[in-house]
Amino acid sequence: MAENKKSSYISGKESRRITRFNRRVTKKLEKERADANKDPKLYTTAMKDPDNIVEFDNVCTYFFSDVGVVRAVDGVNFNVPKHSTVGIVGESGCGKSVTSLSLMQLLARPAGQTVGGEIRFNRGDGTAYNIVNTPNAIMEKIRGDQISMIFQEPMTALNPVFRIGEQINEVIELHNPGMSEADVKARTLEMLDMVGIANKEGVYSMYPHELSGGMRQRICIAIALACSPTLIIADEPTTALDVTIQAQILDLLQNLKDKLNSSIMLITHDLGVVAGMADYVVVMYAGRVVEKGTADEIFHHPCHPYTIGLMRSKPVVGQKVDELYNIPGSVPNPVAMPDYCYFRDRCEMHCDRCSGKYPAEVRLSDTHVVSCYRYYDEGEVLGQPKSVNVEDLL
Ligand SMILES: Nc1ncnc2c1ncn2[C@@H]1O[C@H](COP(=O)(O)OP(=O)(O)OP(=O)(O)O)[C@@H](O)[C@H]1O
Ligand code: SF4
Ligand SMILES: [Mg+2]
Repeated sequence: MAENKKSSYISGKESRRITRFNRRVTKKLEKERADANKDPKLYTTAMKDPDNIVEFDNVCTYFFSDVGVVRAVDGVNFNVPKHSTVGIVGESGCGKSVTSLSLMQLLARPAGQTVGGEIRFNRGDGTAYNIVNTPNAIMEKIRGDQISMIFQEPMTALNPVFRIGEQINEVIELHNPGMSEADVKARTLEMLDMVGIANKEGVYSMYPHELSGGMRQRICIAIALACSPTLIIADEPTTALDVTIQAQILDLLQNLKDKLNSSIMLITHDLGVVAGMADYVVVMYAGRVVEKGTADEIFHHPCHPYTIGLMRSKPVVGQKVDELYNIPGSVPNPVAMPDYCYFRDRCEMHCDRCSGKYPAEVRLSDTHVVSCYRYYDEGEVLGQPKSVNVEDLL
């Protein structure tokens, strides 16, 4: 305890230095962003593969906090192919939500900044937006219309003082300015029907507190899907719900995705949810992707020791165990990450090589990639994720 206190202690002088540095760097980044916003060339790019809807290419999102730089997302690479579900898993604090907030440009700025990499969003006409530099005016059109988000807690996502109908109408009106009042209402009722609300006319004029948790989450889904987005981000969409409702909501999401021809980025720490829904799985650990592949590869041939640990710590129906497996240790301090593999201090399979620099990505199949020294001889060694040196930002 005393040791912990000592290691996290920051002197007044150091604290002032951090504050000054943060102020300078965030001011400069905000100015650069404002300049990039003026020139469409700086936010227009091309997809590497036109069959993807989103490509995260070495994305680095950092928070310039009072205790130092938190590398919440540090060199993240993965794609969301069209019409597919990509599950993002990892323990609390590994950067799942920050990855999705970076894509929506909803980071708590100026402290939170995407300082490196590209997030390419397919415009469907051969070009792509680099979301990192996309101006707010364009982001406002993209959010809700082309990318929409379903949050974990349906009660806080809905406004308690407005009726359900008004809240869905608002989204439809915002993205379809020419639509008549009657058409907006008809579309809202259609959405309520689509998400399985039986008494749609009644619910239209109710307030959120008059609905159950499951119904509220259905309303959030109706709001998110009202404009038929090409990408739905669902951040822990069922964590606040009981198990039977969870299954219904997940079924509903999957059906609506197929109906609308959308893709889903499904963020969860529940492996059961991912197993049932995802086509591809991305496993994150301490701000980095440690393994990614098809659901079959990750569930049946997990390679990274962290993924193997996650699989072992999941209860299996019909299999009796005295005690569930627990990955020993905890995640390193996000302000002072080590130079070597972030998982090494918890890894039961580490070897001499693991004390070297952070392991590169190793391609094991067209879809399966793992960051671990154990596979250097088995696959094609790609590059390491690239961090940004924050001193260079000034
Ligand atoms: N506004 C912020 N300021 C400083 N640090 C932040 C901020 N938001 C997130 N972080 C840090 O970023 C890291 C990643 O957070 P994130 O919310 O993405 O985790 P998560 O994987 O979504 O976890 P959970 O499963 O608990 O939702 C954490 O270390 C967190 O402390
Ligand atoms: S690189 Fe080494 S320490 Fe890291 S996960 Fe692989 S085996 Fe474990
Ligand atoms: Mg989260």
